[in-house]
Amino acid sequence: MAHLTVLMYLAALITLIEPATDKLYPDICPLGQFPCGNLSVCLPQPRHCNGMQDCPNGADEENCVDNSGWPHLFDAFLKTNIQESKECLLDIFPDVCHCKGMKVNCNSKELLDVPAVSSNVTALELNSNRIKSLQADLFIRYQNLERLHLQNNSIKTISKRAFSGLYKLKRLFLSQNLITRLKVGVFRDLQNLEWLILEDNKIATIRQKSFEGLKSLFFLSLLNNSLKHIPKKSFCLEMPRLNWLELEGNTISSLQGSSFQECTALTVLALRRNQIQTVEEGTFSAMQRLIDLDLSVNRIQELPPSLFRNLQNLKQLNISNNPMTHIFDDQFDSFVNLQSLGMEDIEIPNISIRMFRSLSNLTHIYFKKFEYCGYSPNVRSCKPNTDGISSFENLLANIILRVFVWVVAFVICFGNVFVICLRSCIVSENRHHTMAIQSLCCADSLMGVYLFFIGAFDIKYCGEYNRHAQIWMESLECQLIGTLAMLSTEVSVMLLTYMTLEKYLCIVFPFHNYRAGRKQTLFSLIFIWFLGFMIAVIPFWDKKTFGNYYGRNGVCFPLHSDVMEKPGARSYSTGIFLGTIILWVVIFILPINSALNPILYTITTSSFQEHIKLCLQMKWQRAALKETPRNISTIYTQEALPSTNP
Ligand SMILES: *[C@@H]1O[C@H](CO)[C@@H](O)[C@H](O)[C@H]1NC(C)=O
Ligand SMILES: *[C@@H]1O[C@H](CO)[C@@H](O)[C@H](O)[C@H]1NC(C)=O
Ligand SMILES: *[C@@H]1O[C@H](CO)[C@@H](O)[C@H](O)[C@H]1NC(C)=O
Ligand SMILES: *[C@@H]1O[C@H](CO)[C@@H](O)[C@H](O)[C@H]1NC(C)=O
Ligand SMILES: *[C@@H]1O[C@H](CO)[C@@H](O)[C@H](O)[C@H]1NC(C)=O
Ligand SMILES: *[C@@H]1O[C@H](CO)[C@@H](O)[C@H](O)[C@H]1NC(C)=O
Ligand SMILES: *[C@@H]1O[C@H](CO)[C@@H](O)[C@H](O)[C@H]1NC(C)=O
Repeated sequence: MAHLTVLMYLAALITLIEPATDKLYPDICPLGQFPCGNLSVCLPQPRHCNGMQDCPNGADEENCVDNSGWPHLFDAFLKTNIQESKECLLDIFPDVCHCKGMKVNCNSKELLDVPAVSSNVTALELNSNRIKSLQADLFIRYQNLERLHLQNNSIKTISKRAFSGLYKLKRLFLSQNLITRLKVGVFRDLQNLEWLILEDNKIATIRQKSFEGLKSLFFLSLLNNSLKHIPKKSFCLEMPRLNWLELEGNTISSLQGSSFQECTALTVLALRRNQIQTVEEGTFSAMQRLIDLDLSVNRIQELPPSLFRNLQNLKQLNISNNPMTHIFDDQFDSFVNLQSLGMEDIEIPNISIRMFRSLSNLTHIYFKKFEYCGYSPNVRSCKPNTDGISSFENLLANIILRVFVWVVAFVICFGNVFVICLRSCIVSENRHHTMAIQSLCCADSLMGVYLFFIGAFDIKYCGEYNRHAQIWMESLECQLIGTLAMLSTEVSVMLLTYMTLEKYLCIVFPFHNYRAGRKQTLFSLIFIWFLGFMIAVIPFWDKKTFGNYYGRNGVCFPLHSDVMEKPGARSYSTGIFLGTIILWVVIFILPINSALNPILYTITTSSFQEHIKLCLQMKWQRAALKETPRNISTIYTQEALPSTNP
């Protein structure tokens, strides 16, 4: 039954694991500690961002949230734009609207058209109305207008001259409308426009000339539109000051080298949730000021090796959720200022320390697999920090398990060796049965050996497991002990099934003269061992189908069905698991049946019931005799009794 213990132990292994803390590998601080900024004070990892200032200089509460990229920039931008409210200074504005200073608010007033207001208005809010189109010269009187809000209307068509005369306009909000196209030259007069928000529309194509005149444009958002491509010729030629370009949630399929040639001022470029498959060499070569680049959730398989060459100022790069097949060794070499690198869900088969060597300022990195963290040893925060079994420090993250692995290994080995010796010393009347038991003990001992090895490697890698995780999981040792564990589990379960079935047959057909002979038993045992061995080594058969079957976690045993694992390997694991479950059912259900049968067959027969009745009666009568004083009739009865009780 040793393997049952082990299965329970392994289940406990999964459930008991506590999330391990982040890890840092500084030069000055010991493992598991981080330095307090430039002070030579080290603190344990859990003190990092715990809401209390532990470092004298407060460095432990800095850098808690990874906001290296645009959130930081955005905050800085918003802070400069605080506005104060005053009395209404306008003569004309609709009664339903509100006026403050020279600003008019007509939000949610079910307006069908743009209402007339005083010409010196500076801000006009018309959100959530029912405006369907913007005709020519609609705003031409409002030459002082600085802000125009037209969000959440039903605007479909915009006349080419709709915004003519708005020379002072700084912000234009057109989100949540039904705009399908931007006519060439529609923004021609908006020379001072800084923000242009076109989110949640249906714009499918844009031309270079669409943005003609936007000389001061700083922020352009085309989020959640239907753009298929961006103009081949420089997108930024008309917008030389474009700083922030939001293209998330479109259907762009490729990026051409020439598209962003003039985008020298760009600091944030978001291309998240597109369908980008190819990125040409040189696409980002002009963006020397770029700070945040988001290419996540696309279909990129490979990035040209020198794609990022000029991006020395980049602080945040996100290439998560792409079906990348390969990362070049020198791909990230130019990122001397990079602080955050997102590579979630990316398999990096050829990962090496070389890849991340130049990233001296990196503080946050996000991987698909826990073991990759060992290749970026100088990062303050690397995620994920556990795979459910191991932590950065230890192969077995939980201290209880680390001790328990030895105890269980000893108990298993000692117990089984003891039984083997005992069985071979005492000559039993059923030698075939003894053979099966000894076989079972051998199989279970293998599990003990496996646990010994796990314990030993846990000690070997103590304190710095993550550095060795990848190598360990791919090592021959890991494969071998994984095979051992699998062999042990499978053979144990099959042997138990075999023995149970044999007993069952004896009980069900007691008079059938079936008894396994020496040859038959030997053959069955050899067959079971062979089958177990085959099941254990099949994963080595084909690397493509199974991947690194045993080396998927630190304990070298495919414990849980990993969603990311290869379909072949997953079906195999599931198959083995189901097979084992069925055998367990056999082992438990059949004996229950066998145990119940004798009872059922005896209790339910009428002769047995009669017998019981008689017995009870007799007892009762005897009790009665003891209490009543003896007289003739009782003596007579007592004398007569022996004849009724054979
Ligand atoms: C640590 O850095 C702070 C500024 O962040 C500086 O004022 C201080 O002098 C530095 N201390 C040392 C010991 O370098
Ligand atoms: C705005 O224009 C109106 C005339 O339309 C004028 O009476 C008012 O003084 C102007 N307000 C400001 C602040 O210039
Ligand atoms: C958009 O406007 C409609 C009314 O026209 C309103 O019910 C809805 O809440 C608005 N949506 C948003 C996101 O403001
Ligand atoms: C953009 O679209 C996504 C998915 O459809 C949605 O979750 C998100 O809220 C949208 N963003 C905005 C600002 O409307
Ligand atoms: C990177 O992108 C993914 C997917 O868009 C997102 O879930 C993740 O939070 C991003 N990482 C960072 C550090 O912003
Ligand atoms: C990964 O490295 C191995 C040698 O370590 C090499 O044979 C293989 O071609 C590399 N794969 C790629 C995709 O570069
Ligand atoms: C990045 O690292 C360099 C040294 O490699 C250092 O001079 C520079 O100040 C760092 N930049 C930031 C933003 O920490």
